[in-house]
Amino acid sequence: MPYAVPMRIVIAGGSGFLGASLAAHLAANHHDLVILTRQPHPPDPRPPRTTYEPWDPNGHSGRWAKALDNTDAVVNLAGESIAAKRWSTAQKQKIRESRLLATRSLTTAVREAAKPPRAFISGSAIGYYGDRGDETLTEVSAPGTDFLAEVCKDWEAAANAAGDLTRVVLLRTGIVLHRTGGALPKMLPPFYLFAGGPVGSGRQYQSWIHRDDWVRMVAWSVTSDPARGPLNVTGPRPITNKEFSTALGHALRRPSVMPAPPFALRLALGEMADALLLSSQRVLPVRATDLGFAFRFANIDEALADIFPTR
Ligand SMILES: NC(=O)c1ccc[n+]([C@@H]2O[C@H](COP(=O)([O-])OP(=O)(O)OC[C@H]3O[C@@H](n4cnc5c(N)ncnc54)[C@H](OP(=O)(O)O)[C@@H]3O)[C@@H](O)[C@H]2O)c1
Repeated sequence: MPYAVPMRIVIAGGSGFLGASLAAHLAANHHDLVILTRQPHPPDPRPPRTTYEPWDPNGHSGRWAKALDNTDAVVNLAGESIAAKRWSTAQKQKIRESRLLATRSLTTAVREAAKPPRAFISGSAIGYYGDRGDETLTEVSAPGTDFLAEVCKDWEAAANAAGDLTRVVLLRTGIVLHRTGGALPKMLPPFYLFAGGPVGSGRQYQSWIHRDDWVRMVAWSVTSDPARGPLNVTGPRPITNKEFSTALGHALRRPSVMPAPPFALRLALGEMADALLLSSQRVLPVRATDLGFAFRFANIDEALADIFPTR
């Protein structure tokens, strides 16, 4: 359903897994988009209603900052992938710095704009909460203390620097599920080899959200004035990793009985194994639910059936 008034929206990181899905949804709803990208050659042909603006997210503004003139909202999804490479000291630095510098560049541009955008929707993640067992986590829960929690805290603080000029929303994104990107495609090979199963004890909570609900919630946060501050962008029913593995096996019509031992994961992935696979976050989207956001996929079986339809 199109929004009443077409808007002009700038998306940093709009070429990535989530950014490109969001851009496609917003363009289909008649909004005009500017994607800030480090790539010298934007895709050809270009998606409809979309222009690309080269930028260098170095903590400062630049010529690209003009793109923010007459803009209704800025969405900030830029940052080095957290799962692409093993976490060496240099890679951790890149994960952190890429987010802080991109966010500082954008808040500087917001500050310099003749008329600041009405909303600054900035990335964060449920990693903010750290490893919390079966504790129920809402937007008011205290942050964790591990590497990702520290990155998220600093990333959110950098975004809040624009809070006196514009409405800031902090997207504490959970595990976004889709065939085409994020964590899910990486989970599939063992299942296809009939060797899938829970990770470690399987008792850790996974706060998942279907990619389409992620897109709908972020688009909703752009237009929803009461949405401000931290927003848990997760589905309403987090489940344990064991429940998730069972549901995934069922959706793929494969067994889910072979647990992946933590020592093997740590050997293969190092510190990343604990942060991304073994840590537990039972997050509830309290803010969005209170403000009336309706999920299309609340149940994991329905979400996975949509992602892996039976022919
Ligand atoms: N996917 C998930 O399940 C998930 C979960 C929690 C949080 N998040 C967060 O949501 C954001 C978007 O996620 P995504 O899955 O769409 O990520 P993605 O596919 O890796 O896309 C991130 C985008 O950021 C830009 N980028 C990459 N490296 C960069 C660097 N070193 N410096 C500046 N920009 C860089 C790239 O755009 P250009 O190459 O065009 O510049 C890229 O398209 C990320 O910040 C991620 O941490 C995602």
